[in-house]
Amino acid sequence: MPATVIDGKALAAATKAEAAEKVKALKAQGINPCLAVILVGENPASQVYVRGKINDCAQCGIESRSINLPADTTQDALLAEVKKLADDSAVHGILVQLPLPAQIDEKAVIDAIPPEKDVDGFSPVNVGRMQIGEPCYLPCTPAGCIRMIESTGTKIDGKNAVVIGRSNIVGKPAALLLLAKNATVTVCHSHTANLKEICANADILVAAVGRAGFVTGDMVKPGAAVIDVGMNRNAEGKLCGDVDTEEVAKVAGYISPVPGGVGPMTIAMLLSNTVEAYERRLQKISQ
Ligand code: GUN
Repeated sequence: MPATVIDGKALAAATKAEAAEKVKALKAQGINPCLAVILVGENPASQVYVRGKINDCAQCGIESRSINLPADTTQDALLAEVKKLADDSAVHGILVQLPLPAQIDEKAVIDAIPPEKDVDGFSPVNVGRMQIGEPCYLPCTPAGCIRMIESTGTKIDGKNAVVIGRSNIVGKPAALLLLAKNATVTVCHSHTANLKEICANADILVAAVGRAGFVTGDMVKPGAAVIDVGMNRNAEGKLCGDVDTEEVAKVAGYISPVPGGVGPMTIAMLLSNTVEAYERRLQKISQ
């Protein structure tokens, strides 16, 4: 039987509807939740992502500020912009779209976002809190992956989970979140020996490699849940993930599509984090 396709769009719509309900209830208390999104330069993929984030904010009743800076923006100018938003009490969440142009040190910029406004969950404080299981903003893409896996009814507890990729944005946090759910986790990367054998033992396989068609049918355990985080263009210029979907769908139990899988879920989780940022502010005010 072919794999069941995990509908990221439907799951994202449900997550956004939840966020919208919360926004409505919270707005009655007098403050509008607001997300500021900074885009530096004209990276076409980043432009698409940022547009999606702004549109979805509007759909949920979340106010947004879109700040577009030229590609030659200096690090100091960007840091000044972040500081302005950090000091602005009307802004609850700050997101700087990555990657940044080469003249800017990404780490310095992430460090400048106050942890309580870091809705991406990228700041060292939020990363550390996640590591030790304290309340924090969870990074949106891995958090979306977990929701997608759980939506299938697959129990994560006790399963073998394999993550391919070890980036700070996806691979490492995805592994931590799976571990927190009691999976036995293996993180694979470009130096991994026996990649195929390791993947073929995975009940849950998360692919975050950045190479079209990287995960083939012979790398997948029959019945596994396969989450495709890749966002690539194939030889024909068509958007595709890291998984050879046609082949893998013959083996896997569940598979997330690209487009329509992790992408919409990532934005939905961002909105959910922004609502949470707003709720935390209200709690602070009332204390
Ligand atoms: N670039 C690719 N994914 C992301 C993300 O989740 N957040 C930010 N800020 N930049 C990204």
